[in-house]
Amino acid sequence: MRTLVTGGAGYIGSHLVLDLLQAGHEVVVLDDLSNGHPRALERVAALAPRPAELVVGDVADVPLVRRALAGVDVVLHLAAFKAVGESMEHPERYFRNNLGGLSGLLTAMREEGVKRILYSSTAAVYSPQAPMPLREDSMVGPDSPYGWTKAQGEQMLSWMAARAGFSAVSLRYFNPVGAHPSGSIGEHVVAPSNLVPRVLMALTGHLPALTVFGSDYDTADGTCLRDYIHVCDLSRAHLVALAALERPGHHVYNVGTGRPHSVREVLAACAEVAGRPVPVVEGPRRAGDMPVAVADPARFHADLGFRAEHDLHGMVASAWRWWTENPQGYGPR
Ligand code: UD1
Repeated sequence: MRTLVTGGAGYIGSHLVLDLLQAGHEVVVLDDLSNGHPRALERVAALAPRPAELVVGDVADVPLVRRALAGVDVVLHLAAFKAVGESMEHPERYFRNNLGGLSGLLTAMREEGVKRILYSSTAAVYSPQAPMPLREDSMVGPDSPYGWTKAQGEQMLSWMAARAGFSAVSLRYFNPVGAHPSGSIGEHVVAPSNLVPRVLMALTGHLPALTVFGSDYDTADGTCLRDYIHVCDLSRAHLVALAALERPGHHVYNVGTGRPHSVREVLAACAEVAGRPVPVVEGPRRAGDMPVAVADPARFHADLGFRAEHDLHGMVASAWRWWTENPQGYGPR
């Protein structure tokens, strides 16, 4: 198939582009390079049987997207902003980029007659009140503008399926971690807020210590539980989900492992991989953090046979390799 991957120069996108190329698909990447990095695609090309084509631009630019859609069978739409904290400060950026981007993309797809779309959604669409584990039919009720834009995007896809004959799949990602086993593609982080990159920074002296955001939660060791998933499992989930686009309608799947890990378990895994303890300080809770966020991955497995393969140790070991072999990420843009 000929595929268009928006956000294909980003962290998850670069792994996905490589998987699509290795599976024999053609890939056009549309990326404005605001967070993605052109060197990611150079690294992908070195590992893949053929390169992806890169179109630099904005998904909201309908004439540009129409040109990029020539001959395309399926769109995999990853391009979006994803920082919860930033979305609290600047909701309008999220409305414009995430919803304006999807709206432009859907307009261009309709005009070009491309009706199959796989959409990157998030566990952040669920209500903080939803019971654990989170099922696809658990209560949606995001408490951040970021999560709200993703939930609205899912609604837009439901309407396009109902009214315009689209087939759509929304994948609700849990917490992606890790890097490609080659060590040559990974997450290019400038000022990370996520746990694992921050632990690795503490281990390599780029942070004085990792602050544990709250150790008084009602969990076994007092720290929050999350469903971390290896980025290679997450990338493979997209290839598996392509099969669901053969069916009309809008299909929603959690992509997680179903196995929660605490902050302390992540710290222990990182220390084991690095061979030294992580400098840690105990801090207060971070506003907006849920004590537990874990997927029920049963629907994706029942419908399409997907199951995550990598454990926490594998995630952290690959992240450590990427981090130590690429201390500047992909380097300056
Ligand atoms: C965050 C986003 C979520 C996004 C996900 C993946 C928020 C509220 N949620 O999820 O929308 O999909 O990243 O990109 O930002 N922690 C520490 N110290 C740190 C950093 C994190 O103790 O320095 C703890 C947090 O309190 C949390 C866990 O580690 O319990 C994971 O945090 P993080 O990696 O930021 O992911 P989420 O908050 O789950």
